[in-house]
Amino acid sequence: MRYVTRRDLLRTGAYSVLALTASPAPMRAAWTSANAAAQALAPREKLLFDFGWKFQFGHGSDPARDLGFGFSQGDFAKTGEFEFAKVKFDDSKWRALNLPHDWAVELPFVNDDSLTSHGFKPLGRRYPDTSVGWYRRTFDIPVSDAGRRVSVDFDGAFRDVLLWVNGCFIGRNDNGYAPFQFDITDFLIVGAKNCIVARVDASFGDGWFYEGAGIYRHVWMTKTDPIHIERFESYARPTINGANTTISLGTAINNAGETAATARVSWKILDPTGKTIATAFAGQQSIDPDASAAYKATATLTSPMQWSVDSPNLYTAVISVESAGKTVDAEQFNFGIRTAVFDAERGFLLNGKPLKIQGTCNHQDHAGVGAALPDRMQYFRLGVLKEMGCNAVRTSHNMPTPEWVEACDRMGVMMMCETRQMSSNPEAMAQLETMVRRYRNSPSIILWSVGNEENALQNDDAEQGAKIAATMVRRVHEVDPTRAVSAAVNGNNEKGVSLAFDIIGFNYNLAFPEEYHNNHPRKAIYGSETSSAISTRGVYSTDPLRNTVNDYDGVVPWGETAEDWWKFYGTRDWASGGFAWTGFDYRGEPTPYGWPSVNSQFGIMDMCGFPKDTFFYYKAWWGKEPALHLFPHWNWEGREGEPIKIWVYSNLAEVELLVNGVSAGTQKVPHLGHVEWTAKYQPGTIEARGSKDGKVVLTEKRETSGEPASIRMTADRNEIDADGEDIAVLRVEVLDKQGRPVPTASNLLGFKVNGTGSLIGVGNGDPNCQQSDKEPKRSLFNGLAQVIVQSTKDPGEIHIEAIKEGWDGVELTPFKLTIATRKVALRPQVS
Ligand code: GAL
Repeated sequence: MRYVTRRDLLRTGAYSVLALTASPAPMRAAWTSANAAAQALAPREKLLFDFGWKFQFGHGSDPARDLGFGFSQGDFAKTGEFEFAKVKFDDSKWRALNLPHDWAVELPFVNDDSLTSHGFKPLGRRYPDTSVGWYRRTFDIPVSDAGRRVSVDFDGAFRDVLLWVNGCFIGRNDNGYAPFQFDITDFLIVGAKNCIVARVDASFGDGWFYEGAGIYRHVWMTKTDPIHIERFESYARPTINGANTTISLGTAINNAGETAATARVSWKILDPTGKTIATAFAGQQSIDPDASAAYKATATLTSPMQWSVDSPNLYTAVISVESAGKTVDAEQFNFGIRTAVFDAERGFLLNGKPLKIQGTCNHQDHAGVGAALPDRMQYFRLGVLKEMGCNAVRTSHNMPTPEWVEACDRMGVMMMCETRQMSSNPEAMAQLETMVRRYRNSPSIILWSVGNEENALQNDDAEQGAKIAATMVRRVHEVDPTRAVSAAVNGNNEKGVSLAFDIIGFNYNLAFPEEYHNNHPRKAIYGSETSSAISTRGVYSTDPLRNTVNDYDGVVPWGETAEDWWKFYGTRDWASGGFAWTGFDYRGEPTPYGWPSVNSQFGIMDMCGFPKDTFFYYKAWWGKEPALHLFPHWNWEGREGEPIKIWVYSNLAEVELLVNGVSAGTQKVPHLGHVEWTAKYQPGTIEARGSKDGKVVLTEKRETSGEPASIRMTADRNEIDADGEDIAVLRVEVLDKQGRPVPTASNLLGFKVNGTGSLIGVGNGDPNCQQSDKEPKRSLFNGLAQVIVQSTKDPGEIHIEAIKEGWDGVELTPFKLTIATRKVALRPQVS
């Protein structure tokens, strides 16, 4: 794997795209072929179950519009009489779609204060027409599957799911983030067409931010031998002892057969190049029918490569299960070798070396696609975060999708992994335990979080809080004895839930950590949530009439600017660093405004991942390279002669500013600060010259540009996989006659997409834009828009043309872009 160098980025002009260059294609190939290797060993098949679904809205209160469901008392009276879940049911008028799917992002915006958190999307019990969705799919079960166990695995759905197979009720799941699995073997008809139906009800929510609606993560069908490895039971736990690393290996084998069986287990450890470097065995055990047995072994590696943020080396454990002389199951997963220690005096140490956590909190939605992110989008988002110098993410405030964790493992981004519900009730404990089991092999995860800002449990009900948190922490330690457990706490941390935590996280309140550190010198401390700075990309004034916040240093009353929080956590050895709220804008929580703002302004980047100016503050002080960023733009028509604030973020020693070629003075850059000037506007140029040791190292110019004359599109990659999943992310802008970007442009553009792909979403990062995320048109916002196109499974070319939409007297030369879609082996999938 190779990362884009700064020079590559400058050469391609792709400053805000992906840091991972050799592209995920090799990764995808590695992933597919590695999986294929495991599959060749045994009759386990893990099939992607995303393609070819039918969808229709149901209804939250009217059974007549909800497939008759809930019309009278007897819905669940009989097991097998759900007609809508039988193959013969007519769904020909339902909409065809592929998963992941978020229907909330497709809905119109509705001006209702109670929908603020949802980003004004009509979900909830008062919006029954748009809060329930039905998904239906028929599929074949070949005769060769007779005798195998078959399950369906949902990585997560929003929110309450009822599931049927072939007319029979199978089960339910009542939260928006945890994966769930049902063994459907008994309900299948072998050698025939079968039918699965899910009713997904988003009437209730989990959070106070946009959460999407529908089956917004992957679904899988898993087929195994009756004697098989249990879900999420396998682990590889490294302990480093000098040059040697001992790997404790464990798994559980289930016997779903009718008679007792014997099984033994073997492990192969592959190094990052795929070479087998160790093996381990666990002897035969007898397993009763419907029972499980635990298997353990150890392997020793000599001088293995460590996982780090700069070298995310991943090892692979391949587990095989042998019974009656043949291999009956196999599974593999990645793990990494590293130590992650929070120290009360030295802060966070990765592999024994202090490393400040330069983190961001993030929700899971993106422009155009809502909560249903194609896998590739995880790499895109982490790419821009890494480019800013961010080395850690917090999955606020819920269990992440597996692809986000996997992308962090592969790209070298650390993770604070958080569960949704802070409670020791059975439901929350099950979610917590699932999260820890599911992800405990991921080296990127350095910290578990059992929740966020449970203010009642911290203050008025502190006694309850302490007991609840202690139960949760205990359970996490049982399942994963290697990692620290904490939570994001907004308060003094001297009571309540905090009493139970291994390390102490502070949300905001920079006055608290120092005092706490003095009173509790043995407790490690980090900023679990900081900043909440707000800004609108490319806007340099705060205007409550336009719902904008200036892009210099806006902040909410409880928050801190980037400079303030980083000067605190970045300069104290005992502080481990922290997580800024937030890396990206997200739908909902449009603080400090309400309607018509539909998304937050907390992001260091907007909803599309276009950097706001603060991005470059972090890049300067978190990155390792010389950095210089000058703002604002220099297109202030109508404000000639007025003073304009000019800021520069840089980590160089001094910066000189030139206004229309005349020096406005040189300033020393304060450590972790910025420099600023005020200059009267006249069209022309401003230029910043950053120097170190008396030599100019970097310069940056802003030039007054003319009227928009042509359109330009740039793709993050010009070749993607023809697998029906991969995407290209296009940056759209307009240029003046001299080819200079117009930073204030707001032209409405249309997009024609044909060939072997389709448009799956558009955005522009404007928190106040209520245009559709799905229609093939979008206004630029301060010069930029984003288009996301997705491949079909046919290799070929996707042709995208951007044209001026509507007529306002301006001519814009259209732009055509071609993305090649190359033939790849498809992931194993349900046909
Ligand atoms: C925090 C909360 C976040 C977000 C943020 C906005 O208190 O944990 O979810 O709401 O405030 O500043």
